[in-house]
Amino acid sequence: MKLWGGRFSKNTDKLMDDFNSSIHFDSRMYRQDIMGSAAHVKMLGACGIIPQPDADLIYKTLFEILDDIENGKVEFEVSAEDIHMNIEKILISRIGDVGKKLHTGRSRNDQVALDIRLYLRDEVKEIKSMLISLLRVVLRIAEENINTIMPGYTHLQKAQPITLAHHMMAYFQMFRRDLERLDDCLKRMNVMPLGSGALAGTTYPIDRNMVARELGFDRITENSLDAVSDRDFAIELASCLSIIMMHLSRFSEEIILWSSSEFSFIELDDAYSTGSSIMPQKKNPDAAELVRGKTGRVYGSLMALLTLMKGLPLAYNKDMQEDKEAIFNAVDTVKQCLPIFTRLLDTMKIRKDNMYNSAKGGFTNATDMADYLVRKGIPFRDSHEIVGRMVAYCLGKNKGISDLTMDEFKSFSDRIGDDVYDAISLETCVNERKSPGGPSPASVAVSINNGKSYLYNVSE
Ligand code: ARG
Repeated sequence: MKLWGGRFSKNTDKLMDDFNSSIHFDSRMYRQDIMGSAAHVKMLGACGIIPQPDADLIYKTLFEILDDIENGKVEFEVSAEDIHMNIEKILISRIGDVGKKLHTGRSRNDQVALDIRLYLRDEVKEIKSMLISLLRVVLRIAEENINTIMPGYTHLQKAQPITLAHHMMAYFQMFRRDLERLDDCLKRMNVMPLGSGALAGTTYPIDRNMVARELGFDRITENSLDAVSDRDFAIELASCLSIIMMHLSRFSEEIILWSSSEFSFIELDDAYSTGSSIMPQKKNPDAAELVRGKTGRVYGSLMALLTLMKGLPLAYNKDMQEDKEAIFNAVDTVKQCLPIFTRLLDTMKIRKDNMYNSAKGGFTNATDMADYLVRKGIPFRDSHEIVGRMVAYCLGKNKGISDLTMDEFKSFSDRIGDDVYDAISLETCVNERKSPGGPSPASVAVSINNGKSYLYNVSE
């Protein structure tokens, strides 16, 4: 018999049960469902809506059920539809009529809205601490490579020399914003919907603030229609998760490039690489590729959720049961990607020499050569032109600018003197970029210090 079977004269078809049921994906919210019910029943007792001894018995039994679920002693039924009715049915099977009082002043619509918020709140906390671990590794690599010169790119063409520390700290900023976005998302998620009933609240003298306090919510929702209809918090989370994946995917793309023999900037640890079934020499960056690939499914979840909600009239519609698989999949994917990516980064070998040698090619000091001429009194537009001709000349001779002899230099401008070699060395190019936010060791040290104090103060 269904918990809602009263007005029906026959059973639902098996096909309908399977179609309608969400237990195979919402059972993961069992703990949140029980915590929510426990807070609800405590409130029902305290407000005199049900007798205190009944409330106590329900409360105690809920936690026994929780233990049994965690010890694998409970089997959920597809015919009981979802986690909410499965647990209520088990409760009633254990304590009979008293158990039937739990659902007083409550609907599954506000119950599920509560459970998802509770569930996602826990997941966000875990993701936050994974992001913090990643930030720590990024910062560690930066600290160790404040003088590791590498080429910086635009259009994937060598542009100007930077340091690996500077490159790492760029990702630090991205992941830090991701962390801040999650905190912001939590502010709107951490609002308590229970007591909104099916859509129009309840006539019982409930104390919603008590339930909110019991469950650690910041406040209660202000409109019962909104509270049971709103899935913004899940969409917002999917959007935060998509941005995290976008950052991870970009970083993965660089890891993949850097570990290719064309770049050879890094070597991935064997523990996080894979081989080929046919080509014996191969060592493939599969972990990074999977992170890049899985980004698609998280974006997919965001699109699924946005599309799911766009045409729904207020208030609850069963379409909304579809929210869970989408957001769970996004959460699971991010939780899978963050730790593996962190380990991959933490264990990779950095080929400093190759980075340095690569920065020597591609005329990465051309801007500095032009700036040198400016310091010698030549207007920038003219110096740009002179250096352009110098580059064309060097290309013909297969040389870098610093390889030119003094005679060759003089043929471009007689203002050039012996001090040019030092002025356009990679070290000078990097060290002199002292503008705040720039790649000089001095500027990056400031950013590393800021990063450290951020991580020191951040709450997990
Ligand atoms: N399993 C449902 C869901 O995930 C719970 C809410 C059902 N409410 C209803 N009126 N059918 O959305």
